[in-house]
Amino acid sequence: MRKLDGKVAVITGGATGIGYAAAKRFLDEGAFVFIFGRRQDALDTALASLGPSARAIKGSVSNEADLDRLYAVVKAERGTLDIVFANAGAGSPLPLGAITPEHIDETFDTNVKGTIFTVQKALPLMGPGGSIILTGSSAGTTGAPGFTAYSASKAAVRNLARTWAEDLKGTGIRVNVLSPGATATELAKEALGEEGQAVFASMTPLQRMADPAEIGAVAAFLASSDSSFMTASEVAVDGGLAQL
Ligand SMILES: NC(=O)c1ccc[n+]([C@@H]2O[C@H](COP(=O)([O-])OP(=O)(O)OC[C@H]3O[C@@H](n4cnc5c(N)ncnc54)[C@H](OP(=O)(O)O)[C@@H]3O)[C@@H](O)[C@H]2O)c1
Repeated sequence: MRKLDGKVAVITGGATGIGYAAAKRFLDEGAFVFIFGRRQDALDTALASLGPSARAIKGSVSNEADLDRLYAVVKAERGTLDIVFANAGAGSPLPLGAITPEHIDETFDTNVKGTIFTVQKALPLMGPGGSIILTGSSAGTTGAPGFTAYSASKAAVRNLARTWAEDLKGTGIRVNVLSPGATATELAKEALGEEGQAVFASMTPLQRMADPAEIGAVAAFLASSDSSFMTASEVAVDGGLAQL
């Protein structure tokens, strides 16, 4: 018996990076996985290697109609939903003094509003035993120069799990935040550059960045009944970066 046998999962941002690594791990553990993202080419590439127990739906977490379409497909094809990994996220640095309203809107639309509606719209399909995992970040607790919007948005995500653990009392649905540290993905490459990645690796007690599979493994733990007494937790998977 595998950890996620018979479970149905939605992973936003599931075509690349951490989301893709989690999709692979969920499939290995027996789940059926819907990945969701904006770029059709990235979805197609991911689906080609994920195989027949995965589906790809194109859309943005910032667009309510796209999320409605995602869950309509999940309902039509599987009838129910056990796991939501609200993982889609984005962020780039802008130093204090250069921050624009557009930069704030763009970051919060994806990381905060997108996370809220990804979860709220999933709830009618979920029931007891359900697990919601939100991707936070070590940036939600530490200070990082230039990351005002991103860090504040991830601090908001950290609170969502605590508030929703209250709102979900009595439903049997758990909600936790998984907060990665610096992880070797496209986002890290774009936001930090080669030099910034080296700096983050050297600041990390384990002296390296994470492989996305190391984050996917913890997502599978939080998705499964192995974490059945965990809700409202923030689980740091950051090589110690935000813990010292
Ligand atoms: N890498 C790190 O060091 C690190 C550290 C801490 C936390 N995180 C968090 O981990 C999560 C995954 O990021 P990653 O590092 O794996 O980078 P990534 O490979 O760039 O993944 C981000 C994913 O989110 C999707 N996405 C972005 N905006 C979206 C939107 N509006 N609607 C739907 N999907 C959207 C992207 O696909 P499309 O562009 O095709 O939509 C992409 O697949 C993010 O929440 C990020 O903040 C990353």
